[in-house]
Amino acid sequence: MDMTLLASDFAVRIDGVDLSQPLDDADFNRLRDLWMRYKVAVFRDQSLEDDHLLALARRFGRLFVHVQSQLVSPDHKEVMYATNRETKAPVRGVLEWHTDQSYTPKPVFGTILYGIEIPDHGGETLFADLSAAYDSLPDDLRRRVEGLTAVFSPVKPGHERRAPLRADQLEEIPDVTHPLVRTHPYLDRKALYLSPNHIKAIGGLPQQESDALLADLTAHAIRPEHVYCHEWRPGDVLMWDNTSVMHRRNDFPPDQPRFHKRTGFYLPEELGIPA
Ligand SMILES: [Fe+2]
Repeated sequence: MDMTLLASDFAVRIDGVDLSQPLDDADFNRLRDLWMRYKVAVFRDQSLEDDHLLALARRFGRLFVHVQSQLVSPDHKEVMYATNRETKAPVRGVLEWHTDQSYTPKPVFGTILYGIEIPDHGGETLFADLSAAYDSLPDDLRRRVEGLTAVFSPVKPGHERRAPLRADQLEEIPDVTHPLVRTHPYLDRKALYLSPNHIKAIGGLPQQESDALLADLTAHAIRPEHVYCHEWRPGDVLMWDNTSVMHRRNDFPPDQPRFHKRTGFYLPEELGIPA
């Protein structure tokens, strides 16, 4: 197992692993350590069936199932399809900065995204290192965010979802409050817990002030030195830690096929609530 750093002290490419094969405990632990330390792990030239993806994710934790059943694979509810090949809920355009399922009480810990069909340009996934962003906050901003909470919503006004939530689905995920600074569940490491696509309000501030603070924090977090931009190739598998990075998808040509499969896994129950 070889590793290559892809950005400034985060995002790592791991070579010499075939994810379709079961990993022995030593390899699994090494992979998990690297992933947690570097927040984003990239594997190339993989060829995975749904069962492989699920077996890999299950090694890390209880499997994530998306509340929107119309987005999941017909065969496995734990595998989500992100594609523009069918019309039910096609992936298109930009997906703004966010952390996965931050609008739920116990958000998914890791997300695994497997690229199968990739447009010839565009559609990159960008990651922002929210731990480095926290560490490098100017003093005045760090003082402001300490102890603050934010309200996260799956339906922030002005932010359209790929597939609108049905009323019954929406009922399952009312707005939720999380700390704005989060400590990694296993490492002694703090990070901003940012999801600009979902944060509606910060710390009881007047809306304008809240929006301005969110904009300042986001601008700081996505400075080039905190960002890794992944240009996809078919067979790429990306795995990221939603406690420590946020991500975004760039626009891509709608007339070219794009198909990813996504799985995710939760933290153990007792560590699940962001703190
Ligand atoms: Fe996402």
